[in-house]
Amino acid sequence: MGSPVSLEIIQNIAILKILNPPVNALSHLVRLNLMSALKDAEKNESVSAIIVMGEGNTFPAGADITEFGTPPKNPVLPLVCDKIEQLNKPVISAMHGTPLGGGLEIALSCHYRLAHPHTKLGLPEVHLGLLPGAGGTQRLPRLIGLPEAFKIAASGMPISAKKAKEIGLIDELIENINDDPISFADKLLSSNKQILRTCDITEHLNETPETNREMSKIRASFAKSHRGQIAPGKIANCIEATLKMPFEKGQELERNTFVELLKTNQSKGLIHAFFAERKSSKIPEVTKAIPRPLNKIGVVGGGTMGSGITIAALNAGIPVTMIERDAESIKKGNDNVEKVYKRDIEKGRLSESAVNDILAQFNTSTDFDSLSQVDMVIEAVFEEMPIKKKVFQILDQVIKPGGVLASNTSYLDINEIATVTSRPSDVIGLHFFSPANIMRLLEIVVPSRVSDDVVATGFSLAKKMRKTPVRAGVCDGFIGNRILNNYGDCAAFMMEDGATPYEIDKAIFEFGYPMGPYQMFDLAGGDIGWATRKRLEPFRNPQSRYVHIADKLCENGWFGQKTGRGFYRYDTGNRRGNEDPAVLEIIEQERQKKGITPRKFSQEEIIQRYIAAMVNEAAEVVREGIALRPSDVDVTKLFGYGFPRYRGGPMKYADTYGLDRILVDLQEFEKEDPIFWKPSSLIEKLVREGNNFDSLNL
Ligand code: 3HC
Ligand code: NAI
Repeated sequence: MGSPVSLEIIQNIAILKILNPPVNALSHLVRLNLMSALKDAEKNESVSAIIVMGEGNTFPAGADITEFGTPPKNPVLPLVCDKIEQLNKPVISAMHGTPLGGGLEIALSCHYRLAHPHTKLGLPEVHLGLLPGAGGTQRLPRLIGLPEAFKIAASGMPISAKKAKEIGLIDELIENINDDPISFADKLLSSNKQILRTCDITEHLNETPETNREMSKIRASFAKSHRGQIAPGKIANCIEATLKMPFEKGQELERNTFVELLKTNQSKGLIHAFFAERKSSKIPEVTKAIPRPLNKIGVVGGGTMGSGITIAALNAGIPVTMIERDAESIKKGNDNVEKVYKRDIEKGRLSESAVNDILAQFNTSTDFDSLSQVDMVIEAVFEEMPIKKKVFQILDQVIKPGGVLASNTSYLDINEIATVTSRPSDVIGLHFFSPANIMRLLEIVVPSRVSDDVVATGFSLAKKMRKTPVRAGVCDGFIGNRILNNYGDCAAFMMEDGATPYEIDKAIFEFGYPMGPYQMFDLAGGDIGWATRKRLEPFRNPQSRYVHIADKLCENGWFGQKTGRGFYRYDTGNRRGNEDPAVLEIIEQERQKKGITPRKFSQEEIIQRYIAAMVNEAAEVVREGIALRPSDVDVTKLFGYGFPRYRGGPMKYADTYGLDRILVDLQEFEKEDPIFWKPSSLIEKLVREGNNFDSLNL
């Protein structure tokens, strides 16, 4: 294998190109070779200036994340950056693609920075629970001032090259990534321009009351948006250190903080989430088959989900025909779609003409024959098996051969739906989450007779829509909702045994969820769950514990926010809701009926039970092959259900907490209710073998 860093000398200019596909990550081998190429260029008397750039798609997109957690190997990135900065020949970075993290830190240590206009530059370490650890917190504020540097590093969001030029992060925009840097170097060498070391710049390092105020404001805003996370505060500390200590001392603080953060469970959880998200689309069918075309799709049903799916498809550039049952419903469906785009215009997210272009790709009809030419149809009608079956019988008649027939059902058996068609190999589940145009998760439910290329088409749709796909097997509720039902039951048991819904919500919120289960119930609408519970009633084990509280609320018509009342009361204009004594009264009545004397639940116990129930069912989902691997469960819960990303997902959290401790908890709870709390045999096996869930993440 050749060196990942090439050194080419054109006249008196050395060009160092980094090649480590796919993103030119700064692995140990890259750092080693970059260091030696820098030394060669330094020594070579015919070289007067040095250009550093990335080969292929991008300037380096950061440190090699796969090396985190292994002992650091010299030369570590800060040393490479220092070497660049201290060279006595001008060093110019010529950026394109995504110079991120350590990649941008290389550029910050260069004496000049150029970038192609399409470049996206950023410091995304915060997304990994880290901070820029190769001088980024010390050099960026020196270049652009503290507040801007803090915003970039704590948000982790990339900025455009144009913005980078405006704020002084780069010196020039370049059109031709190969030739323009050479011209820049030539000009530099023929002018009196000095080597400009970022570490020596002081003009932005003035501590003024205004800077302090601005930093405090940004700190407070990140404390809110990154609730519970350690890294943003640490980033602020390091950035503010630029005002208080010399460059070298600031670097030391940054390095020590980086190493400290790398050891935290937050960083481990976030790094796990990064790789889990990418692993979920690596599934057997995708490697075996080529996806079918997706030039046009149909959506049946224009309600909450049908309209969201329509928008997701239109935004991905796929024309959509929506079918509804009558003229009134199709008008509603149309309005549902237009309302969202109208808001996009109002908020300045899209121009009116862009929206007109998008809507030109949108047709509505009450006639299923209008779907004859679509490549895929996604059904999103009421969650009732007879209605779904009727729709699929019609779709079987009208959709052209080779068209994919997909259902957005939340729970129903897709194998059964497929039986009413003459082509079960074309039938698949595509379970979107509400709002479907926003939520990133897409469960791709694989029935027994579906063909590989249809599954591959589901994954290809997810890619076009920029969704995160997870492969799920058929069972009631697939991965996400099946697990949700289990910890939902656990919450109901705690509520009946003495915790209020408000205490449960508070505990779950403080664990890091955006909201608790009962706030979620009120937001989503209690009627959906109620219909499912009624459907499953005949199959329920009569020995299993059942809590009637949610049903009682539904019987009163208290479906949540949409009816102004659920577990909370929503008076006009109050979306957060107030605690409702009438709900507590219903809970108390249910306890009395069952002779339960309420007891206190600590916040810690609420979490312990809630997570144990979640992990236990999740283990069953993996054991049964409904999820291919534990990390797919993590992705499902992170992207569809608000599990705090910095905890990595329930399976990663269980590994961190200790699978043996989870088993002990389950065995303890099993004494109260042996049916509900029966430990999954997969957990028992892993604990016996001294393994964890991660050992199954192949
Ligand atoms: N290290 C190792 N592997 C990486 C990587 C990195 N920094 N960035 C991406 N990859 C891998 C991915 O895991 C994926 O591998 P796979 O094909 O086996 O699944 C492959 O590269 C392609 O990645 P994507 O699928 O994400 O490709 P996209 O084109 O969609 O996105 C990207 C490219 C915007 C660069 C995106 O990959 C990304 O955001 N990467 C992370 C960047 C980052 O976090 N950099 C900071 C690292 S920490 C650091 O630099 C510390 C320093 O301060 C000391
Ligand atoms: P909804 O009640 O908002 O919309 C259903 C739409 O289907 C209605 O507009 C109705 O007129 C139409 N419809 C009914 N029968 C039809 C027929 N025969 N032909 C054409 N149109 C017909 O329901 P929602 O919430 O959009 O749910 C739809 C499906 O999506 C259900 O299977 C549900 O389980 C699933 N789902 C719902 C989620 C949610 O949060 N609402 C999340 C994920 C999936």
